[in-house]
Amino acid sequence: MRRRRAIWKVIWPLALIPSTGAPAQGPSPDERARQTEQQMTDDERFSLLISLMGAVPSIGVPRDKRIPPEVGNMSAGYTPGIPRLGVPALQSSDASMGVTNPGYRPDDKGATAFPASIAVGSSFNPKLAREGGAAIGREARSRGFNIQLAGGINLHRDVRNGRNFEYYSEDPLVSAVLGAEAVNGIQGEGVISTLKHYTLNCNETNRHWLDAIIDPAAHRESDLLAFQIAIERSQPGAIMSGYNKVNGEYLSGNRYLLNEVLKGAWGYKGYGMSDWGAVPEWDYALKGLDQESGIQMDVKQWGAEAFTDRLKKAYAEGKLPKERLSDMVRRILRSAYAVGIDQWGPAPTVDLAKHNEIALEIARQGIVVLKNDGVLPLPTDKPLKIGVIGGYAQLGVPSGTGSGAVLPVGGFAATLNIGGAHGFMGAARNLYLMPSAPLTELKKLLPQAQIEFDGGYMPLESAFLARRSDLVIAFGIRVEGEGFDLPDMSLPWGQDALIDAVAAANPNTIVVLETGNPVSMPWRSKVKAIVQAWYPGQAGGQAIAEVLTGKVNPSGRLPITFPASLAQTPRPKLPGIETPWGTPTTVRYDEGAEVGYRWYAQQGIKPLYAFGYGLSYTRFSYKNLKVKGGETITATFTVTNTGKRAGADVPQVYLTGIGETKRMRLLGFERVELEPGESKEVTVSADPRLLAHFDGNAGQWRITGGSHKVALGKAADALMLTAQTTLQPRLFGR
Ligand code: BGC
Repeated sequence: MRRRRAIWKVIWPLALIPSTGAPAQGPSPDERARQTEQQMTDDERFSLLISLMGAVPSIGVPRDKRIPPEVGNMSAGYTPGIPRLGVPALQSSDASMGVTNPGYRPDDKGATAFPASIAVGSSFNPKLAREGGAAIGREARSRGFNIQLAGGINLHRDVRNGRNFEYYSEDPLVSAVLGAEAVNGIQGEGVISTLKHYTLNCNETNRHWLDAIIDPAAHRESDLLAFQIAIERSQPGAIMSGYNKVNGEYLSGNRYLLNEVLKGAWGYKGYGMSDWGAVPEWDYALKGLDQESGIQMDVKQWGAEAFTDRLKKAYAEGKLPKERLSDMVRRILRSAYAVGIDQWGPAPTVDLAKHNEIALEIARQGIVVLKNDGVLPLPTDKPLKIGVIGGYAQLGVPSGTGSGAVLPVGGFAATLNIGGAHGFMGAARNLYLMPSAPLTELKKLLPQAQIEFDGGYMPLESAFLARRSDLVIAFGIRVEGEGFDLPDMSLPWGQDALIDAVAAANPNTIVVLETGNPVSMPWRSKVKAIVQAWYPGQAGGQAIAEVLTGKVNPSGRLPITFPASLAQTPRPKLPGIETPWGTPTTVRYDEGAEVGYRWYAQQGIKPLYAFGYGLSYTRFSYKNLKVKGGETITATFTVTNTGKRAGADVPQVYLTGIGETKRMRLLGFERVELEPGESKEVTVSADPRLLAHFDGNAGQWRITGGSHKVALGKAADALMLTAQTTLQPRLFGR
């Protein structure tokens, strides 16, 4: 009998479900959560407040709390259900770019490995972000995962951050809109999604001992605004807090950020979960944390007794009020009911070919052409001698590393352990190559060409190939990932010297960069074209070949500013980067809300490539910019494709000043697809918070009235049309 009940727990989530995953009509999720919670014993309540990590089932976990062996689909998190009350087991898996199980399940057959979130950011395409999310949601659900640890929306504040590839952009609006659509896609499939890592988890260096200092009002206008808008647009079931401290308080127990801002000012109704190994104290429960994730990690990381045991003690001693215990439980249940994870029907069938198409389309739209001195697109009908050099282009395309790395169906083309990284993510510092080899794909699309490959092992050998070729395509790659920041902006393994040698041997050199961040490109003036492909996912090789040959007209735009050097950035030196893992470190984000392009505009610095920049094989012109003021700014304008090919543009509307004060804010954008000669009228209406300052004393947003300057641009530093309008002064929102 006991065994039958245990199995029931496991199959539970798959047992009951309408096919849409939509919550059934009836009492509201809040009401249902209240009713269920009321019927629980305290032991049942406590059982929902933790998750176990599938990867390390035994470390420090008492036998009765281990994951039952029948649970086949272990991944990041497991919380037993309460079958007598119809509460399903909670099973979570990473991450934003597909369903992962890195190292957790030897039997794992892989999943669709989507391009990095920074590539989704470059697409500036919310619809595509949603399609990707829906595909990830279906794959999660088909494996019995009812929580997807997706929605990474930290802002790119530092080009050395190892995890920038997991995040969309440096801009709060772009990050919020794309992150929200990914969450909507996932939750539309009946799977809870997180938004993470709340908030200002913008560097990996010593992340568990890192104190990130920021002015609270500036925080509201930047990283917190991204979360606020994304939460409003997608109602994620859970918010995962980050590892570091903000202004002296760890994020999982940051009373101001969790209780006052998230749940207080914003009225968030879901639950706050910790990151794995981020809860050293039980009283985080009083400060706003609702669920501790991967309890073994805390035992290991902090040598702490299990959270629930400490919570139970605090409860018995009257330190944890009953009302708060109930609130924690109700929040978890509310999200379960609101998303419908208790309503699942049969597992959806997953169309892997369709998901590959979505991954391919994201890669296509995410690739950004940075430089093109007329060499692209490559002619497909000429018998050119082409040298392809470096980047393991004969094998595949790289991916970022850490908990977000997705094993593609059929496995990686190759894995190379780099070693030397810090902490528990050290072992995960691998070069993973996805089996979509650019070399193979180029050969398919350039049947007339004679293509020769050189691995880039010795620069002189590569230069020999470059010299005997009509043109060269050189690949530059870098492994970036969770648990470490990059020390600088260079390419590793001598690739900058390699590209330099190749470009010296043949001026017709095209460089394709597969990185998760901007790199310095010391060889930039010597090459004819530069293509930023990011980590383009399992169909990435094909997308790169299609862009190079013009089968696809590039439309990606930079979601992060490319500085000319670290000296241009707010922190030329990154605190803690030289120290051993575990060194207490303080990072001051003194740029405040002036992140990325806002910083460059404020400082009057011209970066190498600006936010929003990207080339096309056609041209676009803008006219008729009309701007309306009042409560917010609404801009209307016309975009025309004046070239000879169909293509997509991403016009961007910026606030550039209030009165005589410079203030740069992206107010809106739209990806517009146009046939040659075609025009389209676009209207963009600004979220008023982007026009406001956060008034810390009032706890509200304040628009100073008067004259506001607006510009329509192709990039943050390429403003084509300008206008001015007047706003009414007002105090609003929270
Ligand atoms: C990461 C999270 C991830 C979690 C579970 C942590 O190391 O920071 O993003 O969801 O692990 O794997």
